[in-house]
Amino acid sequence: MQKICIVFDRLRAEEKLLQAKASEMGYETSMIDAKTTRFDTDSKRTENDFGDVVLERCISYYRGLNFTACLEFLDIPVINSFDVANRCGNKMITSMLLKKHNIPTPKTYFSFSAESAMEHFEKVGYPLVIKPIVGSWGRSVMPIKDKDTADAIIENRQVTDGPQDRIYYLQEMIDRPPRDIRVITIGDQTVAAMYRKSSGGFKTNIALGAEPEICKITNEIEDLCIKASKAVGGGILGIDLMEDKKSGLVVHEVNNTVEFKGLVKVAEKDIPKEMIDFAVNYTRK
Ligand SMILES: Nc1ncnc2c1ncn2[C@@H]1O[C@H](COP(=O)(O)OP(=O)(O)O)[C@@H](O)[C@H]1O
Ligand SMILES: [Mg+2]
Repeated sequence: MQKICIVFDRLRAEEKLLQAKASEMGYETSMIDAKTTRFDTDSKRTENDFGDVVLERCISYYRGLNFTACLEFLDIPVINSFDVANRCGNKMITSMLLKKHNIPTPKTYFSFSAESAMEHFEKVGYPLVIKPIVGSWGRSVMPIKDKDTADAIIENRQVTDGPQDRIYYLQEMIDRPPRDIRVITIGDQTVAAMYRKSSGGFKTNIALGAEPEICKITNEIEDLCIKASKAVGGGILGIDLMEDKKSGLVVHEVNNTVEFKGLVKVAEKDIPKEMIDFAVNYTRK
C-alpha cells in the first residue's frame, strides 16, 4: 500500500478532503507544511517522510514550484511535475502552448516595455485585457477599454516596477456571457465542471464572489480539456474556458493547483477519490 503525502502552505478544505479520502481508501498519509521543511544538495535524505508520491498543494505559486524542484531532485514523484507547474503558472507560456497545439484560445500579445505595449494598444485597438503573467484569483486582470486607462495602467506599472511589470500580456476581450467554465481534469479524464457566474463584475473567479453552477461536460468540452491538459504535460489541472459568442469555446487558462471545495458538493464523480487514484497510479509508472 502506497503512502501519500500532501504538501501545503495553508491547510484548506481541499487538502483536508484529500487526506480524509486517502485514509478512507486505506492509504497512509502524511501532511507536510512546506514552511517547515529543509533541503540541501549534499544528501538525498530529508527529515521529512514524503512517502511514495506527493500532491503539491501550496497556495504560493513560487513556493510550490521551487518545492517541486527539490522533490524532483530527491527523485520523489510529485503531482504536478515542475515542468507542468511552470507551464501553467506562467500565462504567457500557457497561451503559447495552447496555440501550438491548435486549441482555440484568445489572441494574445506579448511585449517587454511600456513603449512596445503602447504600440500594441495602438495597433490592435480597444478593448483589451491585461494580466500579470503569474497570478490567480483574478488579481490584477483588468479590462482596458480606452487609451486613458491604458496610459494609467502602464504608468502605474512603471512606478511599481516589479519584475512582472515589465512583461506585458495583453489579450483580446472575449465577448461572452457573464460566466466562464472551470473543468477539473485528472490525467486524460474530465471529472467535473462548473459555470462560474459573475456576481456583477467583469471577472468570474469564485474568489471574487462568482456563483458556481453545475455544467454538463459535453463532448466538445471534454475534447478541448483533454487536449489542453496534454498540451501542458498532464496531471491534475483546472482548465478555464470562455464561451465566445463569435467562435465558440476558447481555453484561456490552465491552473496547476486546482481548488475544488465548491465543486465537490455538486459533482457526480468523487473528485478527491479520483485524485488519490491518480496519485497511486502515478507511483506505479
Ligand atoms: N480575454 C478575456 N476576455 C474576457 N474575459 C476575460 C478574459 N480573460 C480573463 N477574463 C475574465 O477574467 C477572469 C480572470 O482571468 P484569468 O486569465 O483566468 O486569470 P486568473 O488566473 O487570475 O484567474 C476570467 O475568469 C474571466 O472571467
Ligand atoms: Mg482563472
